[in-house]
Amino acid sequence: MPVTAQAQHGPDPSSPQAGAADDSHRVPRRADFPAGFRWGCSTSAYQVEGAVAEDGRGESIWDRFCATPGNIRDASSGDFACDHYHRWPADLDLARDLGLNAYRFSIAWPRIFPQGRGALNPKGLDFYSRLVDGMLERGLEPWPTLYHWDLPQALESRGGWAERDTVAAFVEFADAVARRLGDRVKHWITHNEPWCTVMHGHLEGVHAPGRKDLATALQVSHHVLLSHGLAVDAIRARVPGARAGIALSLHPLRSASASPEDRAAMTRHDGIRNRWFLDPLHGRGYPRDAWERFGAAVPAVRAGDLEAIAAPTDFLGVNYYFPEIVANAPGEGALETRIVPPEAVERTAFGWEVSPEGMVALLERVTRDYRPARILVTENGSTYDDVVTADGRIDDEQRRRYLVRHLAAARQAIAAGVPLEGYFAWSLLDNFEWAEGYGRRFGLVHVDFGTQKRTLKLSGKWFRAFLHGRDPA
Ligand code: FCB
Repeated sequence: MPVTAQAQHGPDPSSPQAGAADDSHRVPRRADFPAGFRWGCSTSAYQVEGAVAEDGRGESIWDRFCATPGNIRDASSGDFACDHYHRWPADLDLARDLGLNAYRFSIAWPRIFPQGRGALNPKGLDFYSRLVDGMLERGLEPWPTLYHWDLPQALESRGGWAERDTVAAFVEFADAVARRLGDRVKHWITHNEPWCTVMHGHLEGVHAPGRKDLATALQVSHHVLLSHGLAVDAIRARVPGARAGIALSLHPLRSASASPEDRAAMTRHDGIRNRWFLDPLHGRGYPRDAWERFGAAVPAVRAGDLEAIAAPTDFLGVNYYFPEIVANAPGEGALETRIVPPEAVERTAFGWEVSPEGMVALLERVTRDYRPARILVTENGSTYDDVVTADGRIDDEQRRRYLVRHLAAARQAIAAGVPLEGYFAWSLLDNFEWAEGYGRRFGLVHVDFGTQKRTLKLSGKWFRAFLHGRDPA
């Protein structure tokens, strides 16, 4: 059953006076977490790299999408972003100096296969090989994601993820990367947030490739999941001892009221938001309730596909940002649901509810319902309207509080029996936030996009003290 997480605002662990009596609200310390816990930051290729025309990189669907007026709020693109393609040594120095022991990044498929498949671009692989070496030299365990939304445009022109051929192309890509990096990379994430690929990209049209069709979106979901399962096998075949998983965006849900109609709507929404991905990955096939609702729009599934999708994984990546409140909405979409904005809650500048208790509830629910061997929070973070002071500081107290409270939530989840083995903050750097452009800053490190100057924010300083075992309170 979906979680009905409640906004219990207890004592605040981000406040220095946080109650000593109740351990769950004490300011977290690194020593509270198990030895070997992964502490990382996450980034993704298109959001940070820039250098879109360098060293043989092909066009991605995001290059094309950004070039269409009206798609990106500030009419920007990832053309330059954080210029990480050139500045990565200094950026990895920042990650090391924070005290991280892991780093999540993504591999731009169009750098490896500029046309999606066929001719491999060795310079693309060379870049990621150097990047991985740079991580290892700095004590950062590499956690690559193979697909963080930047499909080669050449594949999109042939139908993209709606075409079954793209599955085979993805497996070839995974194999090529695993062959080159597998001697040094042991942890592999296949896809980042398939829900976003599917819904933002193919139903709502607010992300690349900007399609708006339910049947297409659902066929895409099936191909993305299938490509995950087959890529897990391909990675394992290439890399002895590899650990593979996927990163899902998951949400704890509440119903807008206690009425049976709203509660049923919450369950229906859970069917697409969470279970549509969790169920098949865990060998249960697509959830029957959602499948029946989607009627003729359901995807074509071939014999053997569901078994392939359910390839055993070594960990589940959970990207957690916010809970959702669901109301019954007759006539609205196939599921007849509506997301209603939360009232009287703390929110980030994006309007996302700040709910560390939601993270605990979500992690407990996933553990209870699916029993993954290991869970890592592969993304968690917040955007606020940062202000640079006259002397160049960014005192992002709200982001610091958000981080403290979510680390306390992570500790609480472990105490409740969640097999949580890592936490990756989104993000190391302010970066290109998709359809929002550069207006939404999520970094622990501020980036001046005019000069490319990096400045550690207050939140980053707090995290650094935490990771170095100093009393950060
Ligand atoms: C997630 C994405 C990530 C970033 C954060 C804010 O959905 O995976 O790339 O945009 O949201």
